[in-house]
Amino acid sequence: MNNVFETISEAAELVSTDPEWANLAAAIQRSVDRGRRIVGCYAGQSRSGPDLEVAVDRAATFLHDFLPHLPGTKVKLLKKIQAGLRVQGDSGDWERVFMNLFLNAAQAMKESGGGEIEVVSQLRDSMVEMSVADSGPGIPESILAKIFHPRFSTKTKQAGLGLHIVHTIVQQNGGVVKAGNRDGGRGAVFTILAPAAEPD
Ligand SMILES: Nc1ncnc2c1ncn2[C@@H]1O[C@H](COP(=O)(O)OP(=O)(O)O)[C@@H](O)[C@H]1O
Ligand SMILES: [Mg+2]
Repeated sequence: MNNVFETISEAAELVSTDPEWANLAAAIQRSVDRGRRIVGCYAGQSRSGPDLEVAVDRAATFLHDFLPHLPGTKVKLLKKIQAGLRVQGDSGDWERVFMNLFLNAAQAMKESGGGEIEVVSQLRDSMVEMSVADSGPGIPESILAKIFHPRFSTKTKQAGLGLHIVHTIVQQNGGVVKAGNRDGGRGAVFTILAPAAEPD
């Protein structure tokens, strides 16, 4: 994979010299960096767990890069994350969790031209509680029990693996993830509870 990333990265660098393509080249480079983090090509993971806010911010950059693929969809991301929160596991894995949740939220809100995603996180005893809520149509009760199953999707041409990956990563790190809908409001809410990691 390193060679693949290297080739794409070099091509992006070449293209970046043309002002007309500089933005696209930068987006390609960010995608390559994201891919490297996800497949773990970066060595030297710290013994303390990754900073949650860093993973969320990287996922937010992904969302920003992805939105042009959902024309007419304006998404506002509201972030309320307690400073210094750390989770156990790999930074790239947590980035992927938030990427998948943000992507689903944006896709769900496409119909109504977009909306808000609210990501909140705080420490509860020795667990980090995280939630991602959107202002889309919410998840029908009839499918709530199935959405984490691999290949379950209500979208055509979709793989239905996003939430299965979220579930797997959260579980691997000793956590639990639940899906539901906002009380008294519109939209879906995903709640994750995972063990906090120690700072250095
Ligand atoms: N934020 C959300 N709002 C409404 N429905 C959702 C949301 N996130 C996931 N879903 C539902 O869960 C299904 C499974 O999601 P996922 O595993 O990511 O697969 P995919 O996005 O490829 O369909 C989606 O097809 C959709 O029906
Ligand atoms: Mg998905």
